[in-house]
Amino acid sequence: MNSYPEDEKYRDSFEGRSVLITGGLGFIGSNLAIRLVDLGARVSLLDAMLDEHGGNMFNIKPVQNQVDINFSDVRDEGTLKYLIKNKDFIFHLAGQNDHVLSRRNPFPDIDINIKGTATLLENCRKYNRDARLIYSGTRGEYGAAIVLPVSEDQPLHPRGIYELSSMAAQQLFQIYHDNDGVRSITLRLTNIYGERAQMRHNRFGVANWFIRLAIDDEMISVFGDGSIIRDFLYVQDAVGAMIASAATDSAYGKVLNVGNDQASNFKELAETVTGITGSGRWAFTPFSPERAAQEPGDFISDISRIKKLVGWAPSYSLDQGLRKTVNYYRQNKEFYW
Ligand SMILES: NC(=O)c1ccc[n+]([C@@H]2O[C@H](COP(=O)([O-])OP(=O)(O)OC[C@H]3O[C@@H](n4cnc5c(N)ncnc54)[C@H](O)[C@@H]3O)[C@@H](O)[C@H]2O)c1
Repeated sequence: MNSYPEDEKYRDSFEGRSVLITGGLGFIGSNLAIRLVDLGARVSLLDAMLDEHGGNMFNIKPVQNQVDINFSDVRDEGTLKYLIKNKDFIFHLAGQNDHVLSRRNPFPDIDINIKGTATLLENCRKYNRDARLIYSGTRGEYGAAIVLPVSEDQPLHPRGIYELSSMAAQQLFQIYHDNDGVRSITLRLTNIYGERAQMRHNRFGVANWFIRLAIDDEMISVFGDGSIIRDFLYVQDAVGAMIASAATDSAYGKVLNVGNDQASNFKELAETVTGITGSGRWAFTPFSPERAAQEPGDFISDISRIKKLVGWAPSYSLDQGLRKTVNYYRQNKEFYW
């Protein structure tokens, strides 16, 4: 029995189909892999297991005997040429996503997020134009919001190299879609939290880091006065959006926000997390110069386009998603700390 009954309506799109997930041992990729296996897809994962990123073999424990794993790099043309052949869907989640690192060294973002994406697309153009591609972009491409909620039509003003590289990757997808018939969708994801994310450092994944500190009964630092708003989204909702979008023909060629119309501020996040764990404390602290430089302020995604086109909307409240996440890490702490 599928643990996600809402996926059942997409079974016909995925059952018996070949799917490649780049970055498939990471946070979002592994959760996606588990649900696609449940839907009867034949799933291959590509992951370079980069240091300090989210790749973790334990992430795919529930399906480890039902997926093919390729420890390889998305920039490796030879591997990609082979792996993309005969794939029906390719979810591109391999990426350098450490925003703090990208301020110190721009080249991994440029090399992985831009060159890696171009390598994937060029191979699809040459060897598999029938594949349908789904790219996980970031809300960071918008930079500071001009109007809330932020729709896909707002201008893009990325504030860092990570965000810039994601924007360039999205535009590469669009160019190959328009010029070469390599069909793709870009999903601009908001802040995602949930099970199977890395928990070793706090350079990305702020909501998950709050959970780690609370479970360890430590102090959570809430930057500024805690009033900055985010539309935090539970990972199973984000994966649901990917599955639903990939199965919707009319979504190809589009950019769609994947966020939450229920927003919370960081003070509420800290209070909810510590309320659920019953441990940990929180206090306000000034922004570090690095964090301040990249902080775009309040952000809420306008998700009306994906609701209308794909029929997807979030199903978990912040409290429900955080409870599931806390339970997962309490049970599996040894594999993540
Ligand atoms: N988590 C979020 O809140 C969020 C928000 C917006 C966008 N995204 C994007 O979604 C994607 C997945 O993010 P995640 O949170 O699952 O991160 P993650 O670090 O958990 O997973 C990314 C995976 O990609 C792998 N990888 C990195 N570079 C690679 C390369 N060159 N070749 C092969 N594998 C490589 C890593 O080893 C890791 O397992 C990223 O592109 C990220 O920028 C994530």
